[in-house]
Amino acid sequence: MSNELEALLKEKRVFNPSTEIIEGSNIKKWMDKHNLKDYDELQEKSLENPQWFWNEIAGELEWFQLYKKVLKWDPPNVEWFLDGKTNIVHNALDRHIEGPHKDKIAFIWEGENGEVKKLSYNDLYMEVNRFANALKSLGVEKGDRVSIYLPMILELPIAMLACAKIGAIHSVVFSGFSAKAFADRINDAGSKIAITADGFNRRGKVIHLKNKVNEILKDTPSITNLLIVQHAGVEAVMKDGRDVWWHEIRDGMDSECETVSMDSEDPLFILYTSGTTGKPKGVVHVHGGYMVGVYATLKFVFDMKEEDIWWCAADIGWITGHSYIVYAPLIFGVTSIMYEGAPEYPNPGRLWRMLEDYKATIFYTAPTTIRMFMKYGEKWPQKYDLTSLRLLGSVGEPINPEAWVWYHKHIGGDKCPIMDTWWQTETGMHIITPLPISDLKPGSVFKPFPSIKVDVVDDDGESIIGGGGHLVIKSPWPAMFRNLYNNPDRYMETYWSTFPNIYLSGDVARQDENGYFWIQGREDDVMSVAGHRISSAEVESALVSHHDVAEAAVVGKADPIKGEVIYAFVILKQGIKRNSDLKNILKNHVRNEIGPIASPADIILVSDLPKTSSGKIMRRVIKAKVKGEPVGDISTLANPEAVDELDKDLVI
Ligand code: WTA
Repeated sequence: MSNELEALLKEKRVFNPSTEIIEGSNIKKWMDKHNLKDYDELQEKSLENPQWFWNEIAGELEWFQLYKKVLKWDPPNVEWFLDGKTNIVHNALDRHIEGPHKDKIAFIWEGENGEVKKLSYNDLYMEVNRFANALKSLGVEKGDRVSIYLPMILELPIAMLACAKIGAIHSVVFSGFSAKAFADRINDAGSKIAITADGFNRRGKVIHLKNKVNEILKDTPSITNLLIVQHAGVEAVMKDGRDVWWHEIRDGMDSECETVSMDSEDPLFILYTSGTTGKPKGVVHVHGGYMVGVYATLKFVFDMKEEDIWWCAADIGWITGHSYIVYAPLIFGVTSIMYEGAPEYPNPGRLWRMLEDYKATIFYTAPTTIRMFMKYGEKWPQKYDLTSLRLLGSVGEPINPEAWVWYHKHIGGDKCPIMDTWWQTETGMHIITPLPISDLKPGSVFKPFPSIKVDVVDDDGESIIGGGGHLVIKSPWPAMFRNLYNNPDRYMETYWSTFPNIYLSGDVARQDENGYFWIQGREDDVMSVAGHRISSAEVESALVSHHDVAEAAVVGKADPIKGEVIYAFVILKQGIKRNSDLKNILKNHVRNEIGPIASPADIILVSDLPKTSSGKIMRRVIKAKVKGEPVGDISTLANPEAVDELDKDLVI
């Protein structure tokens, strides 16, 4: 039995939130107002009538024209808040300027080198307006796509909000991806403008961005201009007529800009995520439903209050940052912390020092981070006063019970409930999650958010209790994605064709006898490396793009800190000299093609790979080998002898 499984079986404790947390929570107050006794009653009533539930919440936000109908569901087609007119930026910024939030701090930003900047809602509003006017001056119009490749600096949310304000569609690409990955995403979206920075700080070094982008812009014909933010103060090679410094164009820009009225269903952004093929999927979200969904979950799951200091320590390049660093907290009018650099830099006390300094009340991070800090030991958090914390959160991968208990004890001081939120780029908002009133079992993501019907089913679509199966969502939710950009066929095929009219998440899960959900991992060939979604096929295609490589097979291997690390089995072309340098060359090649997060932990040079008679590589067999488990039925293999070849690294 694996250690992890053993720990899961041992950890039987249930952690109940204190009466103070329950009684003070937004969800409890809301339930009292609607005469609902507990989660079960709330879930029952909201499932019976999701329109009622979402109409109540949408009514807390402002609409230029109120919607006429809450929901039209003709799976997989969905529309929320029909005929409503709004703009998410009106709710995230404009309305605050008229009221008490005007001078409140929106973001406390800390650079890796210790520099601190604070932006009030009014500062942010004016900066977004200037940025939006700059985009307009470069010819950006409603519906145009803008690709953004920025690190964790304030100009990233500013650029996103500026796009949304004028009705342009932003496509943010994680700054840890390679410039080549940025180019692929620009071309898929057909973006008009690209935005980047000169560079940023990471573990004490400056990472250059602009000069890397120079190399790819010859292959992105749709781009007319590149807007560059000066941040790291490093040299950037500029191209006349195409490249514009943000700080130079900014001076001439008006700090007022009209917010364009958008239909609820108008697209807000595209965010690329990995699928089972080598080509990333452009997940499309819209203004109306997304706005209501992220707001509701921040209010009820993270129990956001006016005086809270919120820190979602994700990167804005991923959905967690889009929803819970940029949009939801601003809609709420809360103060957020934003951090540029590496969490363990210059020492493993960094995060805890920042929690103390800014008196953060709610902290949201990924299990990988928790496991990394467990390794450094509790002596680091013990140096700091973390008593301001009230709630904790986890996202991105299953959290093992030991890490859960460590987080609860050493960061939460045994008093902060942990909201382990399951959701995806596609869902836009939390789907299966505890509420601050829930009794928690470490390692379980609790139950669906009110009004959403989630299930675990077998291959025939029948519900299963107790055993593992496909995790599916059987009802619509407002922040659901509406399509894959330029690829409706893949949208249908990936998510809606396995079980008709039911959303297939791609995860395997189990529901226990109390209705608690336990996520077991992905069922497709998507790996989860330090909480990042990376597809096996994407890494394989990067490897075979190297001139020395004939074939490659990539699988994830369990890792105590990162969840999974990448193992690559490679067959070299004939006549290529094998040596251990070549392994590093190939690792670097993947770095350049996709980014450091996709670089294999190990590359094994082999002479053969197990294949079916149709020539398809059997990753299942390779995975079993890597795990040290029996390879199972190999009768369909065309070359069973290849299984033993996997053990023989030709370099060693
Ligand atoms: C995984 C991240 C277990 C899951 C918001 C999902 C989780 C994928 C959890 C989506 C969780 C996310 N427990 N697994 N609390 N949250 N996952 O699109 O496999 O980057 O399908 O969105 O992360 O990753 P994505």
